[in-house]
Amino acid sequence: MRNYKIAAIPADGIGTEVISAGVSVLECLQKKVGDVTFQIEHFDWGSDYYKKNGVMMPENGLEKLKSFDAIYFGAVGAPDVPDHITLWGLRLPICQGFDQYANVRPTKIMAGIQSPLRNAGPGDLDWVIVRENSEGEYSGHGGRAHRGLPEEVGTEVAIFTRAGVTRIMRYAFKLAQSRPRKLLTVVTKSNAQRHGMVMWDEIAAEVATEFPDVSWDKMLVDAMTVRMTLHPKSLDTIVATNLHADILSDLAGALAGSLGVAPTANIDPERRFPSMFEPIHGSAFDITGKGIANPVASFWTAAQMLDHLGEHDASALLMSAVEEVCATGVKTPDVGGRATTREVTDAVIAAIMKR
Ligand SMILES: NC(=O)c1ccc[n+]([C@@H]2O[C@H](COP(=O)([O-])OP(=O)(O)OC[C@H]3O[C@@H](n4cnc5c(N)ncnc54)[C@H](O)[C@@H]3O)[C@@H](O)[C@H]2O)c1
Repeated sequence: MRNYKIAAIPADGIGTEVISAGVSVLECLQKKVGDVTFQIEHFDWGSDYYKKNGVMMPENGLEKLKSFDAIYFGAVGAPDVPDHITLWGLRLPICQGFDQYANVRPTKIMAGIQSPLRNAGPGDLDWVIVRENSEGEYSGHGGRAHRGLPEEVGTEVAIFTRAGVTRIMRYAFKLAQSRPRKLLTVVTKSNAQRHGMVMWDEIAAEVATEFPDVSWDKMLVDAMTVRMTLHPKSLDTIVATNLHADILSDLAGALAGSLGVAPTANIDPERRFPSMFEPIHGSAFDITGKGIANPVASFWTAAQMLDHLGEHDASALLMSAVEEVCATGVKTPDVGGRATTREVTDAVIAAIMKR
């Protein structure tokens, strides 16, 4: 019997709805697979916790999470708490504190889900975006001076280190190498940003020499949005900075049909700490409490979690059930259906059990 300790942090808004759906699916997989158990512990951290305690998680939060095999995370964000507090109070301290430097975001058009791209269907868009997740534009370096005065200044410094860039490039090349097309696109902005981004390009070229079987090219981030939209088939694995990949992966999710299907894994490739798995989307105030949040992203990220834990068969079983349910039309309204979160979850559970 293999036992995994999983910390569930649903946090805010629809995060609680989709994580609860994901937990039911994990419990079902446990039954189906037979020789694996998921010991899931829930943490009530997030904006409600903040309103009561003045912090998004307790001071020893990371210490509490350290002994888990993985973290299953929902979303942060509340209408009455500033976004930089929710993000910097919970999600980013976990990513940075556990050095989850590789943020892996697969996207594809699934059968049964309509892409807004007129001519794109399943097989035409199948990407993995690798986002640098520990430094760059989200290093948290900067400050404010002369607050409230006309001469007020705010700085936001993007930090790129040789160690940080090298390790993410190596991760991305290795991932590209493991995929059938062995194709990597390095996103940059070295025409306008001539220091950190030029170093980023140089290190990409250096690391590329370690992977002679991977074809790679370089795209400016602005041109990349055009290529993603007009020539989705020309892309496979993509690596980009923290900010660039943050933006491009929302676009990727939308092009694949909805943010509600896009997952993400915050990975510590060296496995010193637990990695964290979550949907890309936020807490979605507009649909919170309506029971119509698409749970597919939270299922897909659970599949990423299972792969990370080495449970590849369970992961494949879950993804094939999710793909079957999408193809048969049991879908939430964001992807053109009428089903509720519960109905999609029940359909996925039924699809797992009948296999
Ligand atoms: N990782 C995170 O925790 C994270 C990510 C993004 C935004 N946020 C936070 O979430 C809050 C809301 O942000 P936002 O509106 O910009 O982004 P959002 O991702 O919450 O929502 C954007 C749009 O996509 C829709 N959507 C998102 N997920 C969906 C799902 N599973 N099913 C159906 N529709 C879905 C929403 O209804 C909304 O119309 C903010 O506080 C923001 O800071 C958190």
